[in-house]
Amino acid sequence: MSTLLTPEAASTHSDFDVNQIRGEFPALHQLVHGHPLVYLDNAATTQKPQAVIDAITSYYTHDNANIHRGVHALSERATMHYEDARKKVQHFLNARERAEIIFTRNATEGVNLVAQTFGRSSLTAGDEILISGMEHHCNIVPWQLLCEQVGSVLRVVPITDDGELRLSDVADSISPKTKLIAMTHMSNALGTVTPISDIIELAHQQSIPVLVDAAQSAYHTPIDVQAMDCDFLVLSGHKLYGPTGVGVLYGKREFLDSMPPYQRGGDMILSVTFEKTIFNELPYKFEAGTPDISGVIGLGAAIDWIMQVGLDRIGNYEQKLLEYGTQQLQAIPGLHIIGTAPIKASILSFVLGDIHPHDIGTVLDEEGVAIRTGHHCAQPVMHRFCIPATARASLACYNTKGDIDALVGALHKVIEVFA
Ligand code: ALA
Repeated sequence: MSTLLTPEAASTHSDFDVNQIRGEFPALHQLVHGHPLVYLDNAATTQKPQAVIDAITSYYTHDNANIHRGVHALSERATMHYEDARKKVQHFLNARERAEIIFTRNATEGVNLVAQTFGRSSLTAGDEILISGMEHHCNIVPWQLLCEQVGSVLRVVPITDDGELRLSDVADSISPKTKLIAMTHMSNALGTVTPISDIIELAHQQSIPVLVDAAQSAYHTPIDVQAMDCDFLVLSGHKLYGPTGVGVLYGKREFLDSMPPYQRGGDMILSVTFEKTIFNELPYKFEAGTPDISGVIGLGAAIDWIMQVGLDRIGNYEQKLLEYGTQQLQAIPGLHIIGTAPIKASILSFVLGDIHPHDIGTVLDEEGVAIRTGHHCAQPVMHRFCIPATARASLACYNTKGDIDALVGALHKVIEVFA
């Protein structure tokens, strides 16, 4: 079963002080075009709590130095904070060991890393990689490159008219040639939550490894990589209330150990001569060059912050808000929600009559309401629903029913403008 909560489970929680939470996000408290900001573009990136901003400022104010290299105090402090953040991510994902946590630039880099190391060394001509019809481009394009390189084949599990991914369709798409399944845990364009644990169980019955794209799910629901039993999982720090420029790849040690390095250079080596290089142990083997030290430290602070609030409480709160938002939007004449799967989270993607989503977004911005419009880096999803684009409101833990009401009010202005 999916680890994301059902609406029934969500309704049992009520102890969530959203005003206190909002108070911790300085960027939320501003006027945009003379209106209080209503930030509903969280699937693109979330705002940052003061604790994250303070952690980054503190690093640059007191501890700035390169890591793993110096014997001086600042380098040791920077290294300690960086490696502490790795432990926080390990705990957050419940990975078996710290060495299974690789810092990347973002979820996209994590997928590319797996494609170019595991994929390139394990797949050959005719092997199949299975993805779903609702993947973000980051979980399509790196596999297309791998297919060009090794002659493997990309196969796609279709999605339903509601934007659901059925386990039976995944089962039907697996063949004796399937050598890797790469699936999203939650669609950024539709909000659909996939039955990822069931997919992994099914795949493992046939010894097929699974990569999970958790970029959209990781800030809405607790993830336990051991319980899920995924082989790889990628996420982005900036959606987790952390800074941009840092992401995470989790991989089971048995895979990471056998994979060649992704990039080569400093810090990922044990010894170098002009004749031969011996690579470093995990996780450093996959972290070439000076990493985004402040970003990793900021991500550690973001994880501390999320764990203090409680991801289960965040998910429950957001689920109620999603239900409210769904009801309110469905009452607007001519509005159609794209993505109505029974299990979904925090995304309200919609079209409104024949008004172009960019026009919707522009009028909403004039009212202080920030949403994303376009194909959301998921063009095949748009093709599936025969539309060029959607308007997308996406929720985070600091949003309120008032934000939804402001969105609805602004959408009525859109209708007035374009009527
Ligand atoms: N993947 C991000 C989004 O959905 C950028 O907006």
